[in-house]
Amino acid sequence: MAPASGGPPVLEVRGLSKRYKPRKRGSPTTLANDGLNLSVGRGEIVALLGPNGAGKTTLLRQIAGQLLPDGGTIRIAGVDMIARPLAAKERLSVIPQECASSESLTVRETVLLFGRIKGLERKTATQRTQEILVEVGLQDESEKLVRELSGGLKRRVLIAVAMSAPAAELLLLDEPTTGLDPEARRSVWRVILGLKRRGLSILLTTHYIEEAEYLADRVVVVTHGRFVVHGRVEEIRAGLPYQGRLEVRALDRLSPEARRRVDALGQRWKEALRSDSYVRFEIPDPFSRETVSELGELTSLGVRASLSPVSLEDAYLAVVGAVEE
Ligand SMILES: Nc1ncnc2c1ncn2[C@@H]1O[C@H](COP(=O)(O)OP(=O)(O)OP(=O)(O)O)[C@@H](O)[C@H]1O
Ligand SMILES: [Mg+2]
Repeated sequence: MAPASGGPPVLEVRGLSKRYKPRKRGSPTTLANDGLNLSVGRGEIVALLGPNGAGKTTLLRQIAGQLLPDGGTIRIAGVDMIARPLAAKERLSVIPQECASSESLTVRETVLLFGRIKGLERKTATQRTQEILVEVGLQDESEKLVRELSGGLKRRVLIAVAMSAPAAELLLLDEPTTGLDPEARRSVWRVILGLKRRGLSILLTTHYIEEAEYLADRVVVVTHGRFVVHGRVEEIRAGLPYQGRLEVRALDRLSPEARRRVDALGQRWKEALRSDSYVRFEIPDPFSRETVSELGELTSLGVRASLSPVSLEDAYLAVVGAVEE
């Protein structure tokens, strides 16, 4: 699929594949990715979603030039990663899923060190470090040791480090907010959106569907090394065979009449989820006259029911469930 913005893509992947060889002879090989095509335009955020072991980290490591693909091409801002890895790597920055940055340096020293490693002169690196610390909201923490920081602040240090690469046009973020509390996650989101506004392109992986829904211009769902869904969030939602959900709560406290009415809904609509106190139905058209009048009837019987449009999570579960079954 083509990137949303015009101009040459900042990332272009064609026909990428990777097979991990088995450690023991005779064991099967793992096809970690299989003929993947992906473009990311300037200032665009693309989110990779998919179950554990789907091949997300493998893809990011190949794009970062850390893992040689078996086949296919990778271009970073037009530069071929396999033919010219040094020049291509200058144009990107990576935050790995697991990080081993030195925790015995201060926040400022850490960002400065990485800027110097990436080739900035001392004066420029010092100045750039200060700008980055302000941009990611770490100015009050700048003299603390990285190991003294909370998980959320450490994640921000990683983003600051990624930003210290002077020529980076593409950021690769592998699960940038895993393990963070909801507030810390939102503060990382603000940083990511700030980078997008500066024109950086971002490819990230996440297990938080809300994160993809909030940040991404496009979403790719990966299973078994293949892209099974690829598009804008609205397009992916529109591709579902149902467009709404009806949820009923406090099911265990209904009058017998109300209970019969709720149970009868199962003859019209597919039941998606049920517990003792909760049931959810998939509704083809949540705004039809029929659905809205049913909601009115339920409410008049004292049922706590609500209608909502489908979310990206519904679409994700539908495609991943269909592949895994
Ligand atoms: N170094 C390796 N050697 C052999 N197999 C590997 C290696 N790294 C990953 N794999 C296998 O490749 C597949 C894809 O793994 P990958 O780490 O890319 O998944 P992922 O989508 O990032 O998963 P997660 O959501 O758990 O981070 C898995 O089957 C995994 O076991
Ligand atoms: Mg991973």
